[in-house]
Amino acid sequence: MEKRELLYEGKAKKLYTCDDDNLLISEFKDDLTAFNAQKKGLESGKGALNCQISTHLFDLLEKEGIATHLVETLDQNHQLVKKVDIIPIEVVVRNTATGSLSKRLGIKDGLELPFVLVEFYLKDDDLNDPIICDDHCMLLNLVQKRDELEILRQKAKKINSVLKDFFAKRRLNLIDFKVEFGKDKDGNILLSDEISPDSCRFWDMDSGEKMDKDRFRQNLGSVKVAYEEVLKRILEEK
Ligand code: TMP
Ligand code: ASP
Repeated sequence: MEKRELLYEGKAKKLYTCDDDNLLISEFKDDLTAFNAQKKGLESGKGALNCQISTHLFDLLEKEGIATHLVETLDQNHQLVKKVDIIPIEVVVRNTATGSLSKRLGIKDGLELPFVLVEFYLKDDDLNDPIICDDHCMLLNLVQKRDELEILRQKAKKINSVLKDFFAKRRLNLIDFKVEFGKDKDGNILLSDEISPDSCRFWDMDSGEKMDKDRFRQNLGSVKVAYEEVLKRILEEK
């Protein structure tokens, strides 16, 4: 399948049309951004690493009953995906307090949460992706029915339980992550976008080292080395 027109360019990916009207080609870029693109960088090979990591994780989740937009991987940094209307809600799942949660609510950084926390953020760069509640989602017509918010929560929790176990076997602690969902032409809710060290936090269980985009956000050392290590561990047979 060949790329045709550029449909959309985001901070980490480009989406192209292709010969099939129901499908798109997603290209993973080497660009790194943080703090709503106030900090920008480039890491050669990052796109290919995230494409491979996300492909493995989406395949794993699909096997565990989570429907995803992924059709197949075309090459190192391109995926063929189902065309969806993205639901403009960034669904964040947290196992351990850190990042904006600790900053906003003063919860100690590194504290293991007593239950899995699911939060919704409005996907809107101009508004700096504010945190929103169910009523805000309804007010802004982000979903058609309130039930869909519960479906997003349940799917996000299932993804968390599959990935948390998977990474624990590989000595990585899944701290938190962000996922996005889309609706296909038949109204099915599919896991979309990507799951990668750009959109997750992983802490090495032995050293405590951060193995994700916080390295870029906080200048903690090579991003590529960490992402390569994450991919290596994903590929380990367990
Ligand atoms: P936060 O602590 O900054 O709110 O981030 C929570 C999780 O969501 C973390 O794993 C990083 C991820 N994330 C994104 O993927 N995109 C974003 O724009 C933000 C702010 C966070
Ligand atoms: N994804 C956001 C950005 O690219 C924020 C972040 O991940 O820190 O700016």
